[in-house]
Amino acid sequence: MSDTNLKIGDGDYPVLSGSVGPDVVDIRKLYAKTGMFTYDPGFTSTASCESALTYIDGDQGVLLHRGYPIGELAEHSSFMEVSYLLLNGELPSEDELDKFTYTISRHTMLHEQLSTFYRGFRRDAHPMAVMCGVVGALSAFYHDSTDITDPRQRMIASHRLIAKMPTIAAMAYKYSVGQPFLYPKNDLSYTGNFLRMTFGVPAEEYEIHPAVEKAMDRIFILHADHEQNASTSTVRLAGSSGANPFACIAAGIACLWGPAHGGANEAALNMLREIGTPDKIPEYIARAKDKNDPFRLMGFGHRVYKNYDPRATVMQKTVREVFDALKVDDPLFETALRLEEIALRDDYFIEKKLFPNVDFYSGVILSAIGFPTTMFTVLFALARTVGWVAQWNEMISDPEQKIGRPRQLYTGPTERPYVPLDAR
Ligand code: CMC
Repeated sequence: MSDTNLKIGDGDYPVLSGSVGPDVVDIRKLYAKTGMFTYDPGFTSTASCESALTYIDGDQGVLLHRGYPIGELAEHSSFMEVSYLLLNGELPSEDELDKFTYTISRHTMLHEQLSTFYRGFRRDAHPMAVMCGVVGALSAFYHDSTDITDPRQRMIASHRLIAKMPTIAAMAYKYSVGQPFLYPKNDLSYTGNFLRMTFGVPAEEYEIHPAVEKAMDRIFILHADHEQNASTSTVRLAGSSGANPFACIAAGIACLWGPAHGGANEAALNMLREIGTPDKIPEYIARAKDKNDPFRLMGFGHRVYKNYDPRATVMQKTVREVFDALKVDDPLFETALRLEEIALRDDYFIEKKLFPNVDFYSGVILSAIGFPTTMFTVLFALARTVGWVAQWNEMISDPEQKIGRPRQLYTGPTERPYVPLDAR
């Protein structure tokens, strides 16, 4: 992989090339040779691992899963197919897809005792708090798939996580609204099953709206994986110590919750509601540009994309499809479109290359489908689980993998003698 070297001080460091994308300088021997560390808080110039799963070209607005463009997957594929692709590296044959879908459907139930676990939470708990707790608790229930050195157990744990996440998410919702939990129904699609467990009630047959099922499945595809983002890196870091997969995914969920990451979809819709009508947009644009105001346009900007997020393009199109199918027309969509238009013509956003990201339009759709804002990040976590487990499996199978252990630039006091309490 190494064609050239980069000279740093007296040492030569190999430059490694991937299949596409920027080369990387292999600085693993830097400390041994120079006694120096690199300094890169926020990892803006650091590749933390080698990966063959997802590729992003942020300048061009390209996102590929195993080489396939996200737009094509969103248009032609299904979430089950994309899940198979991420986990196994290739698109499945018809037979492989049937088998995979069947396997996932056989793992959708939760251990019955887990439902009592929910009852320990307050009714008004944020569903992400419930998700973190319940997913972490899975390791206390499924001991037979926590040996990470066994590839078969790793795959069973991965299937369990993908399969149980809709059940866990739907139960978090049901608990918050005081309705009974619904058991999964395995003759439904992955997404249809989730919709029924969320919005169905035992007293009535739930009819799945085909357009909503399709849109939801597409939203899951759009969130399935995204390279070494904060939550995926968290999963990898937790996994690098040998922690079991359920604990690692719970760590990923905790990281995803933040408003700079997965929590942005909830924050974006709350922001649109606060803005309300298009006439208020200039006021909020001015606040976003004001250095002394912490306010940011939520759903705007991205560490990697310095162009339109390709997922936002699909999301915007999906809003119209859902609105047409459900015959709804939320004025907030108009506000969102107008906000995008004004921001994209503003010098501040042009210079800083700030574009709408995946979270800008997702809230408008999810709200039209009937989800409360607190569920938005839960849906992100549900869909991202396949990416997390695929990345985790890739890491565990990598012979180069070591425990993740960054170093630091220490700026605290140098050594000093302890001062007894009565002398301070
Ligand atoms: N509104 C106003 N200004 C912004 C915004 C925004 N949404 N995003 C970035 N900036 C400015 C920022 O103030 C900074 O200005 P300056 O250089 O003058 O200090 C510059 O643009 C670069 O921003 P940064 O914070 O240094 O960039 P970053 O790569 O560390 O942060 C980000 C990326 C996504 C956290 C940030 O753009 C942001 O906070 N966006 C809003 C939250 C959001 O929508 N997050 C979802 C990301 S996509 C889904 C996901 O990954 O979960």
